[in-house]
Amino acid sequence: MSGSLKRLAFGLVLSAALMGGGPSHAIGATITIACGAVGIFHDLCRAGAERWAAETGNAVEFVQSPGSTSDRLALFQQLLAAGAADIDVIEVDVIWPGILGRYFIDLGAYVDAATVAAHFPVFIENNTVDGELKALPWFSDVGLLYYRKDLLEAHGFSVPQTWAELAEAARAVVAAERASGSARMTGFVFQGKAYEGLTCNALEWIDSFGGGQILAEDGSVTVNNPKAVRALETVASWIGVIAPRGVLGYMEEDARGVFQSGNAVFMRNWPYAWALAQAPDSPVKDKVGVAPLPAGRPDGQHSGTLGGAGLAVSKYSPHPEIAADLVRYLASPPLQAERAIRGAINPTIPALYEDPEVLKAQPFLADLLPILEAAVARPSQIAGERYNQLSTIFWNVVHDTLAGRTTAETGLAAAERHLQRIRFRDGW
Ligand code: GLC
Repeated sequence: MSGSLKRLAFGLVLSAALMGGGPSHAIGATITIACGAVGIFHDLCRAGAERWAAETGNAVEFVQSPGSTSDRLALFQQLLAAGAADIDVIEVDVIWPGILGRYFIDLGAYVDAATVAAHFPVFIENNTVDGELKALPWFSDVGLLYYRKDLLEAHGFSVPQTWAELAEAARAVVAAERASGSARMTGFVFQGKAYEGLTCNALEWIDSFGGGQILAEDGSVTVNNPKAVRALETVASWIGVIAPRGVLGYMEEDARGVFQSGNAVFMRNWPYAWALAQAPDSPVKDKVGVAPLPAGRPDGQHSGTLGGAGLAVSKYSPHPEIAADLVRYLASPPLQAERAIRGAINPTIPALYEDPEVLKAQPFLADLLPILEAAVARPSQIAGERYNQLSTIFWNVVHDTLAGRTTAETGLAAAERHLQRIRFRDGW
């Protein structure tokens, strides 16, 4: 045998030994999953998926996804449009089934009716496109107001019920705190960058002023109205006053960074921020309260945007059945309970909001259920495939208004014209 052939033969023996070959070790499939990008979402997904792999003899690989849901959408759109077979399971934002659904298998073929019926019907309906279940719900989200209990108490304020009360408390607390040496204290942080997170925030402001939800149920464009104008004018007046100018570049984790390091009185964020604010090493541990977001008027509505995600299997996956098994496992009640306990990640299964173990670890989930049930949906089911286009137009106009590049009146009128053009040209 020549030297190189000997080396090759030795290499083959060695790799067989490393793989622990032999008929008793059936080699499972490798499933690649893209899940979790913000806070501890990815770590909790990884822990669950690795447990599934160990239990089933399959392997899992993880794809790192960008922190912005808008960037994630662009990435998956590109991969799936190219027919890429290298991702099997994808975390699907609640606003995506109409956009990406055609690339996903019908999970209805892999999950039984009882599994489906355990979820809030709103998510099952949301994830069903042309009669096919495109994603199994795995967490829900709703916009919340986080506030510093200690600071409100120290300066004699109660939890704000309206945006005007929030602005007043923010102004007074920041002035007093800065005067006593907290130079970096700011009033209110939220998601103000030009991306989907701003659409969520702006829907809350506008809806809480009675200005509607961008589109009406019948698809007509309602975004331009005097209440929506007032809502955006109000928020624009906060920039550089109760909110730092930098908020125009903030996503979820930027806002959390400022609030959790103790430098903001109020924050708008999703439930996951609660577990992290309460972590042992958090500078604001035990100093934080959570409430519904403020209303536009004293007797007005408290609007929180409905968010969350499901898990879908790509139709290009070489192992759809095994991938669907991983999805079923991750979305199952015990795994949803575990993520709620460890990460304050809201389940999509109503029974878990009464589960003693979940409530013991996260008592705030009981208060969250009514907020979740009253949440405001983005018009993604109405706009379907066109939702991202709609949202991009909307968040850009809102961003321009907050940055002072346009007025709310001019911006919303332009958004209305643009959306109407798309509706009449392409339909929704
Ligand atoms: C959260 C929500 C999601 C929303 C996103 C916006 O991840 O669950 O629905 O689109 O935030 O940033």
